[in-house]
Amino acid sequence: MALEITDAEFQRLVKYMYDNFGINLTAKKVLVQGRLGNMLNERGFKSYNEYLDTVMADKSGAEVTTILNKLTTNHTYFMREPEHYTFLKDTILPYMKQSCGGDHILRIWSAACSSGEECYTTAMLMDQFFGNEKGMWDTRILATDISQNVIEKAKRGVYSDESMKGLPNEWKTRYFNDLGNGKYEICKGIKDEVIYKTFNLMDPMPDKYKHKPFDLIFCRNVMIYFDAPTKQALVNRFYDVVKPGGYFFTGHAESINRADTKFEYIQPAIYRRSV
Ligand SMILES: C[S@@+](CC[C@H](N)C(=O)[O-])C[C@H]1O[C@@H](n2cnc3c(N)ncnc32)[C@H](O)[C@@H]1O
Repeated sequence: MALEITDAEFQRLVKYMYDNFGINLTAKKVLVQGRLGNMLNERGFKSYNEYLDTVMADKSGAEVTTILNKLTTNHTYFMREPEHYTFLKDTILPYMKQSCGGDHILRIWSAACSSGEECYTTAMLMDQFFGNEKGMWDTRILATDISQNVIEKAKRGVYSDESMKGLPNEWKTRYFNDLGNGKYEICKGIKDEVIYKTFNLMDPMPDKYKHKPFDLIFCRNVMIYFDAPTKQALVNRFYDVVKPGGYFFTGHAESINRADTKFEYIQPAIYRRSV
């Protein structure tokens, strides 16, 4: 039977998740108990307080990864929200190509990348776009997530055909090695285009991001966990690390109140910093 959470324990857990990760679980008591209760029993915890003490004391990051994995979803897939990739191919990349000056560097950040489908879709799309000129460009993508678990999965780069349904067949044969049993591994050329790091979106933007701002930031399907002030503060921090003329993508379920942001609204889930 699942371990029951007391009101005081629930408040403590809500505060911990909000203060440390911006995740708002205020109205999610049933979800919390449903997702943690059995695991706590299996692991022999007598109370949620005992479990939270363990999470807070663990310096390895393993317990934090577990609680985040249990209480948020990492679910993602290739070519999710295809409107973004169409806009990238038809509008952003031609603009960047023409306005980059001589340096041939594109800086793209997939913030909350989960298991890598978003950044690998982007890397394949850029490979298609640049074709023979690709070698002249540095288009490596920064991909971050708070969960070390999903980053390890992204680095392995092995996916089921289910998550690849949205990809053109030609991309599947060109960019993946067929491992059999419906499993495919992303090829080395595309894997090497992505640099992974752990990063908590609640932390201040590193100075180097301010000094070398991004042409495009993806922050999709994570802000649904944040309340309005947390989301607004995060969008403001992103604004500071986007180049003038650069773009910002959110998930289509995560609209930004236009009065609260300096970003210009372009179309649903696409924003831009003025040139
Ligand atoms: C549903 S996935 C989004 C994947 C991809 N961006 C997409 O749109 O499909 C949400 C990810 O947000 C990550 N996440 C949750 N809170 C975070 C935080 N405070 N900082 C960084 N990543 C966070 C989770 O670990 C999870 O991998």
